[in-house]
Amino acid sequence: MSKLQELMRRGTDLLGCDVAIMGGAMSWISERHLVSALSNAGAFGVIACGAMPPELLDKEIAATKALTSKPFGVNLITMHPQLNELIDVCGKHQVTHVVLAGGLPPGGSIDRIKGHGAKVICFAPALALAKKLIRSGVDALIIEGSEAGGHIGPVSTSVLAQEILPHVAQDVPVFVAGGIATGDMIAAYLEMGAAGVQLGTAFVCSTECIAHPNFKKMFLRGSARDAIASVQIDPRLPVIPVRALKNAGTEAFNTKQREVAQRLDEGKVDMAAAQLEIEHFWAGALRRAVIDGDVENGSVMAGQSVGMVKAEEPVADIITRLVREAEVALAR
Ligand SMILES: Cc1cc2nc3c(=O)[nH]c(=O)nc-3n(C[C@H](O)[C@H](O)[C@H](O)COP(=O)(O)O)c2cc1C
Repeated sequence: MSKLQELMRRGTDLLGCDVAIMGGAMSWISERHLVSALSNAGAFGVIACGAMPPELLDKEIAATKALTSKPFGVNLITMHPQLNELIDVCGKHQVTHVVLAGGLPPGGSIDRIKGHGAKVICFAPALALAKKLIRSGVDALIIEGSEAGGHIGPVSTSVLAQEILPHVAQDVPVFVAGGIATGDMIAAYLEMGAAGVQLGTAFVCSTECIAHPNFKKMFLRGSARDAIASVQIDPRLPVIPVRALKNAGTEAFNTKQREVAQRLDEGKVDMAAAQLEIEHFWAGALRRAVIDGDVENGSVMAGQSVGMVKAEEPVADIITRLVREAEVALAR
């Protein structure tokens, strides 16, 4: 067994695949084609359920199964109003792994997933929460730093890795995510005790990914400094930070925040309505960019590693390169 296989073994045993690289679920992007391509390449694809209703998830899982006989996971957002029904759809298809994202899992959800015989993987945003999740019975954790694309926390991957890995990596397999684009980085986190990694940005320009050509073009042109976190302009109007490539939409969002804050000051709108207006600004924005190709007004979510995405290439080639780089780094 190679050193890489040895270091990844807890991850590959847990996931049931050859390479402990998870394709991070990306709403609208991580559907049947990308997910099956990842799993067929020996890595681990994860369907992004996002806001899908149970009937659509049902179809997506069935369609993915038709494209791969390898295991894959499903990512469910904890605040989805039909979380229990979605869990049961995963159970019906005997999905082997469910990733819970978007906040701490609500009571009963972990047991419900385990009741169907699936493994539960959760995001741990801090050490205390990692320990709490382990006590609740999760099978593995993901720690994701602020370099990542999409919704992000405030702490960088390197700091989370140092704070969390030494204390919990012996209890459950931990996957590190955020800002990873090379095998060298994968090798480094494995040597620190990670059981595997999760990448999102690196797979957006894969041949199999259905993202609109305009979306992929933005990725190929973008550099690390273009992938910026959304900013909250007024303390009364909360903004959940999202990392995306800057465009006209990002500017418009800042203008919108200033304008709503002013109307709030003038008493022309009440607090609840003002907050809702901010919350709704980006509704449907990722879909607009990924599917419709409106990369000026939509949300082009991307991580800082976007600058290292250089070409459109098959998933299998990306995985092969990452594995080769990691092996070379470990041999060094
Ligand atoms: C376009 C895009 C959409 C994403 N959507 C989701 C999502 O729906 N659910 C989720 O848990 N994570 C989501 N993520 C985060 C990824 O699953 C993954 O953890 C992240 O991309 C890893 O960091 P990286 O982008 O630096 O590789 C998204 C990321 C991107 C770039």
